[in-house]
Amino acid sequence: MSSAHQPVQGMSDIAAPEIRLWQRVEAVAREVLARYGFEELRTPIVEFESVFTRSLGATTDVVQKEMYVFEKGGRHLALRPEGTAGVMRYAAGLAPGEAEGARWYYFGPMFRSERPQAGRRRQFHQCGVECLEPPSPLVDAEVLALQVDLLRAWGLGDCVVRLNTRGAGGETAAVTAGLRAALQPHQADLCDNCRRRFSENVLRVLDCKTEGCRTVVAGLPPVTDFMSTASRDYLAQVAGHLDALGVACRMDPLLVRGLDYYEHTIWEITSEALGAQNAMSGGGRYRIQIGGRELTGVGFAIGLERVISVLQTLGRTSALLPAPPPLVWLVGLGEQAIQGNLALMQQLRAAGLACRMAPGGSLKSQMRAADKSGAAWAVIRGDDELTQGLAALKDLAAGRQESVPLDRLADELIRRAAASRQ
Ligand code: HAM
Repeated sequence: MSSAHQPVQGMSDIAAPEIRLWQRVEAVAREVLARYGFEELRTPIVEFESVFTRSLGATTDVVQKEMYVFEKGGRHLALRPEGTAGVMRYAAGLAPGEAEGARWYYFGPMFRSERPQAGRRRQFHQCGVECLEPPSPLVDAEVLALQVDLLRAWGLGDCVVRLNTRGAGGETAAVTAGLRAALQPHQADLCDNCRRRFSENVLRVLDCKTEGCRTVVAGLPPVTDFMSTASRDYLAQVAGHLDALGVACRMDPLLVRGLDYYEHTIWEITSEALGAQNAMSGGGRYRIQIGGRELTGVGFAIGLERVISVLQTLGRTSALLPAPPPLVWLVGLGEQAIQGNLALMQQLRAAGLACRMAPGGSLKSQMRAADKSGAAWAVIRGDDELTQGLAALKDLAAGRQESVPLDRLADELIRRAAASRQ
């Protein structure tokens, strides 16, 4: 069903007053990201489909079921379902020395054609980072600490971090074989989806939410048993560095992550305030082949709709939002008064004040507009007052009104606005 005034299902307009929270969340994040040496990178929303199918993995849910793909001029294109692949496509076009060590962040819309439900959108927004350093437990821990720092700066430092490893890239075959062997006797107890996953993407059986699969999985050895000692040491070092960085986390041997490009460290951060779709963000170390190059890095992405939702559910929005600057509303009756108000409006805005006026109407309707706007003060002048060189200045909250000489009006408002900010 479509309706002329509604957006596509699972996509939303973001308007005032909520948009102010979005802007603030972004501004706070940019400050934190700059402290860690990250620069913004803006990549296109549309990429060649192959950018995603090759890097996320052909058997992942995102590629198999959720991508918006279309053909234009014989080219197979896709709306980006996530940010990492596009960033790697950009990095692959740089000289090797330029890409290595790069630290980028991005904000923007992502698209996944999922069945819309609480917390699952078809257009959603991510704040993500990618750090193109070769495998290093120290870098992984630093990037995870950055993520926790971001959440803290938004007032969400009490989220739960779950940590695990995928093992070194070369160990995938051994892990897959080990898991299949352990699951083999229990195949009949798995859900339909997991029976398919058993051959296609056996790791995903570990994070299946179905009761029967959870019981089977609870009896399996941890995946780290199928990995090398070096991979287990790598994870232990990440945990040690996180400890030194003051980041609390919980080891979760069942954490898998839904994308194929990961190796070594993976993590997810959840909030109980979110309900069923409780992942606020996820990340990890990855290796991606693109444009004849192999790129390796570590990063994460935070779902901004989910951050906003948690802030609202926990009543933490006001701590993040600064008080809006006081507004002056100019009311003018008669041509000369309106001309005078236009000049005053420019003067006040140039001095950093917020200032508005109605395009016309009676004194009553202009005053109603002033009240509705939440303005702190109204300046009222009619042609009569002008002949006396005066305007009425009304404090709308207190309901007090006084006459102020026109040549002192701007200074008086600037003084009052400064005093109200202290
Ligand atoms: P992801 O776990 O697929 O990872 O998504 C990251 C976050 O985006 C999720 O934790 C969630 O908050 C949000 N998210 C995902 N799908 C939806 C949806 N349908 N509706 C609302 N929010 C959603 C990635 O995208 C990786 N690229 C992260 C990464 C970067 N790993 C390394 N670098």
